Amino acid sequence: MFGLSSIFTKKKSSLMLILLCVFTLTLSSCFFQESDGGKRVGIGYNKGYSPEQPLPFSHELHVGTHKIQCQYCHNQVERSKESNIPALSTCMNCHQQVATDKEPIKKLREAYADGKSIEWVKVHMLPDHVQFNHQAHVQRGVSCQTCHGEIEKMAKVYQYSDLSMGWCVNCHRQPENKAPLNCTTCHH
Ligand code: HEC
Ligand code: HEC
Ligand code: HEC
Ligand code: HEC
Ligand code: HEC
Repeated sequence: MFGLSSIFTKKKSSLMLILLCVFTLTLSSCFFQESDGGKRVGIGYNKGYSPEQPLPFSHELHVGTHKIQCQYCHNQVERSKESNIPALSTCMNCHQQVATDKEPIKKLREAYADGKSIEWVKVHMLPDHVQFNHQAHVQRGVSCQTCHGEIEKMAKVYQYSDLSMGWCVNCHRQPENKAPLNCTTCHH
């Protein structure tokens, strides 16, 4: 039943299987690397994550060079639970006139004229079981940079903090912060 040739083919086929696995793994890791810039490892701990965006929007240029305030664009940050990414109409306040000959601005204006929006890729993402509230932090005077780093120097946004539970709790624990530590503050 198990002749020499059948053992040989069995060996050969398991070798093929291993090669196939290695190939598939390599292929899939290449694929994920390409779609995620190679840094994303799951929701939460994505320190350094900086996905490709549909347009090369630069905070360094807008905030660093042109001194536009964060809240001119992220105008819900103090009022709502969520922060927000500005709508195209906010960009158009300036880009109806500014840099209209530049390629990305042409794209921006076309999208606006067609009633479309720009599909920005989310950088920061907490798991669903965590609730975070910008309003509470901003009103207490915690600066954007404490959590997001020097955004005004970023040509491309990246995740500065690791957004782990330890990171949140360590700051809440500082006596001067008088921040709540009970589980239900952050978890439903
Ligand atoms: C001129 C408008 C504008 C200004 C001013 C601006 N931003 Fe942004 N911001 C954007 C846009 C558009 C995006 C989405 C594209 C991107 O991620 O680069 C964004 C993305 C972000 C993100 C990442 C959001 C995510 O996906 O998780 C953070 C954090 C952020 N901004 C913080 C700031 C801070 C802090 C300031 C001030 C120091 C600021 N921004 C000023 C337009 C602006
Ligand atoms: C308050 C005014 C203002 C707002 C609002 C604004 N920008 Fe700009 N933007 C500028 C200025 C000024 C420049 C620099 C123009 C130059 O160097 O010629 C610029 C440059 C740019 C460039 C680079 C163009 C190039 O290739 O040189 C892009 C892309 C851009 N803005 C995208 C956006 C997007 C997207 C928004 C909305 C989220 C936005 N801007 C909102 C003022 C603004
Ligand atoms: C105490 C830390 C902390 C501070 C201070 C803070 N942020 Fe955030 N920010 C976060 C966290 C955490 C998230 C991810 C929230 C989530 O996924 O629900 C986030 C997400 C964001 C986003 C993306 C939200 C979206 O709708 O996609 C923007 C934009 C942003 N912050 C801007 C700001 C600006 C502007 C300031 C200052 C006015 C600021 N943040 C201050 C921690 C902070
Ligand atoms: C740099 C310090 C700092 C970090 C980091 C931080 N917090 Fe806070 N947080 C505070 C302070 C200070 C308060 C107290 C605000 C108040 O009630 O006056 C607070 C309050 C809160 C509240 C209560 C809000 C309310 O409505 O009373 C929640 C929820 C919260 N934080 C969630 C988080 C989560 C989730 C993270 C991590 C993703 C986080 N915080 C990271 C400083 C921080
Ligand atoms: C200040 C905010 C904050 C408080 C308070 C807090 N957590 Fe969390 N927790 C987080 C954040 C943010 C995450 C998601 C990131 C992570 O997994 O580290 C998390 C994640 C978790 C997870 C999931 C871990 C995993 O591997 O997916 C568990 C379980 C958890 N917390 C339990 C608790 C318990 C129990 C308490 C009370 C003793 C508590 N948390 C208090 C912010 C908080």
